[in-house]
Amino acid sequence: MPAVTSPEQLFEHELQDMYYAEKTLTKVLPKLAEEASDRELSRAFTSHLKQTEGHVANLEKVFRAIGKTPPATPCPGIEGIKKEHDEFIESSSPSTEMLDAFLTGAAARAEHYEIAAYTGLVSQARALKEREAVELLQENLKQEKDALKKVETISKRILKEANGSTGNGGRVPSGSRQSARTRS
Ligand SMILES: [Fe+2]
Ligand SMILES: [Fe+2]
Repeated sequence: MPAVTSPEQLFEHELQDMYYAEKTLTKVLPKLAEEASDRELSRAFTSHLKQTEGHVANLEKVFRAIGKTPPATPCPGIEGIKKEHDEFIESSSPSTEMLDAFLTGAAARAEHYEIAAYTGLVSQARALKEREAVELLQENLKQEKDALKKVETISKRILKEANGSTGNGGRVPSGSRQSARTRS
């Protein structure tokens, strides 16, 4: 990487990093949707995939707005989150319930990462007076925040049900996941 010595260069670097992360997520999200047994969770992954494709498109618009082409620079942050997921699946043989619960955590990690990145990018774009970029990046940021809220809500329900179905919760008698679900 050439030496980064100006705010413009740093902004460009951070954009490239997120461009790679978003492109990676467009490949990961369909797999997560397949892995999830919980229908609401699976649907959440599919609908966030559509949004993520929009995030890639918005980033391409930002690159155009600042007169740059978008080469994706490998982003070790998102690779790490992905690796954590892959290793858990390989080594832990999770039950369907625990896999769903795990997936909500993995998704929340990715959303937090994106939220941090876009918050920084919005500030950088604002400082550089790149108005169009600010708007596009804010749009992505808002959708990441909404996606995080949604996955947190699903996570709470899944954990509650899992706790009930293993008899640890005390509220729902131990039984099938289905019976725990129909109670909520
Ligand atoms: Fe995104
Ligand atoms: Fe996201």
